[in-house]
Parts: sequence; structure tokens; C-alpha cells
Amino acid sequence: MATLTTSSKRPYHIIVFGASGFTGQFVVEEVTRTCNEGPGGTFQWAVAGRNRDRLEKTLLQAADALCKPELKCVEVIVTDAAETEPLAIMCKQGVIVLNCVGPYRFYGETVMKACIENVAHCIDICGEP
Ligand SMILES: NC(=O)c1ccc[n+]([C@@H]2O[C@H](COP(=O)([O-])OP(=O)(O)OC[C@H]3O[C@@H](n4cnc5c(N)ncnc54)[C@H](OP(=O)(O)O)[C@@H]3O)[C@@H](O)[C@H]2O)c1
Repeated sequence: MATLTTSSKRPYHIIVFGASGFTGQFVVEEVTRTCNEGPGGTFQWAVAGRNRDRLEKTLLQAADALCKPELKCVEVIVTDAAETEPLAIMCKQGVIVLNCVGPYRFYGETVMKACIENVAHCIDICGEP
């Protein structure tokens, strides 16, 4: 994490897209653990997905599980993978989009294209070809 930089145009180092899913919730917990290993107070991240309530519930669960109430203050971005414009806006805000939106056979390529077009790194958890 120490080498990741943001600019005023990229407010987040990492955006966890699909944070409310089965896999996404584990990724949220892992990002929380990892960001604590970086330089104090400089790591910026957000969760994203199509449903604000589910994303906030994920943050609440992670806050309880990890005893980190500050997780409730992580930014939430509402974006549907099927909507081009909001997806582009989300991609422009992150250095890295960590994509957990599935199934990938429907949304994987769409998210990857949006990242390329908007110059964000794209990482997924690749459960299927
Ligand atoms: N489960 C595993 O152990 C595992 C392991 C490795 C890889 N994978 C792969 O990871 C992917 C996700 O698996 P999962 O088990 O985590 O699935 P999941 O529990 O069904 O979660 C899917 C996530 O995608 C979101 N989503 C679905 N359609 C969306 C859309 N149109 N726009 C924005 N967000 C949308 C869901 O949001 P909502 O909460 O709003 O529904 C949810 O956050 C799959 O492709 C799978 O192959 C899974």
C-alpha cells in the first residue's frame, strides 16, 4: 500500500465494488486489515455497489467483526454494473477497482472495460473463466 498514490481527481486508493456480496464482505475485512499495515491515516478507500442499504450493512458487520467502529465512516458509492455512465464515474474515483460483482460472466467484462476507459487498475477474484 505504501506506493499507492492518489490525486485530487482520484480520491480513493481502492474501491471495493460489490462489497455487499458473499466474497465482497471478506474482501472488505481484508482491505481493513491491510490498510492498517500501511502508513497511518493516508489510505483512502470506498465500497461500491447497487444498493446503499446492503453496503452499509456490510460495513456495520465488518465494524463489529473487527471491532473497528471507524468502518461505519467508509464512503459508499452507489453504482450499478449495468449502467455505463455511473460505472465510469465510479472508475474515475479510484486508483484500483477491486471487482467482486458477480457473476463475472455477466458483469466482469463490462467492469474491466470501464476501468480501462477510465484509467483505473482492475482486479477481480476470478471464480470462473
Ligand atoms: N463465492 C466464492 O467463494 C467465490 C470465490 C471466488 C470467486 N468468486 C466469484 O466472485 C463473483 C461474486 O461471487 P459471490 O459469491 O460473492 O456472489 P454474490 O454473493 O451473489 O455477490 C454478488 C455481488 O455483486 C453485486 N451485484 C450483482 N449485480 C450487480 C449489478 N448489476 N451492479 C452492481 N452490483 C451487482 C451484488 O450486489 P447486491 O448485494 O446488491 O445484490 C453483490 O454485492 C462471482 O463471479 C464468483 O464466481 C466467488
